[in-house]
Amino acid sequence: MTEAPPVAGERPQPARKFYGRRHGKALRPAQARLVEDLLPRLAIPGAARQGDPARAPVDPAALFGDDRPVWLEIGFGAGEHLAHQAALHPGTGFLGAEPFVNGVAAFLGKVEARGLANIRIHPGDARDLVELLPPASLSRVFLLYPDPWPKTRHRDRRFMSPENLALLVRAMAPGAELRLATDIPDYVAHALAAVAASGFRREERDPATPWPDWTRTRYEAKALREGRTPAYLSFRRA
Ligand SMILES: C[S@@+](CC[C@H](N)C(=O)[O-])C[C@H]1O[C@@H](n2cnc3c(N)ncnc32)[C@H](O)[C@@H]1O
Repeated sequence: MTEAPPVAGERPQPARKFYGRRHGKALRPAQARLVEDLLPRLAIPGAARQGDPARAPVDPAALFGDDRPVWLEIGFGAGEHLAHQAALHPGTGFLGAEPFVNGVAAFLGKVEARGLANIRIHPGDARDLVELLPPASLSRVFLLYPDPWPKTRHRDRRFMSPENLALLVRAMAPGAELRLATDIPDYVAHALAAVAASGFRREERDPATPWPDWTRTRYEAKALREGRTPAYLSFRRA
């Protein structure tokens, strides 16, 4: 196999490992239509996997047509929160990354129903997108109910790893906020240790109280039904 040309300054690398699900049950016809017709219009050009020849730097100003603030949601699931934020902040550009196609399809339904025009989607691993963004280009990042990977031997699969935080530190502007919601107490401890060793500081806030512009995600509803307690943490990029 021939090796793909690297993005400027990037060493050729094999596609990175993603441990989650990319596909669930078959899409309904209306969802399949959205994935076929709407997704290509909202997909971020260049945001391809490592090793893919289509991979190229991503310019948010070109995506949104101006230099508006840009916020990213990592692993948006069915997109309840992303759609809510995009409707609330029409002057902000939203990037959403989600490899699970059924989630992407559900989110596209919300984008269409609400006529949201300030959204671009990466239907893949957020890391492949973040490293293609210009330095200091993100002013807020949401990581909501990341996969908990509870087994000790799977801890290094958690999104809040030193490597992934380093990617975020580079792409986030100084002072930009990273919001984490989780229902797993051990993930809170894990996150606090991980950010302490990176370029973030924890912001003083009551972790039991959601942010004022919060909306419940599908995963949060499930966590509450099952008796788990959410924690809402904010970190600032130094
Ligand atoms: C537990 S679900 C939570 C979904 C949603 N945030 C919610 O609160 O309902 C975690 C999501 O993160 C996504 N995910 C996992 N690793 C990811 C990665 N590297 N980049 C983007 N999304 C990822 C999964 O596909 C999954 O949809």
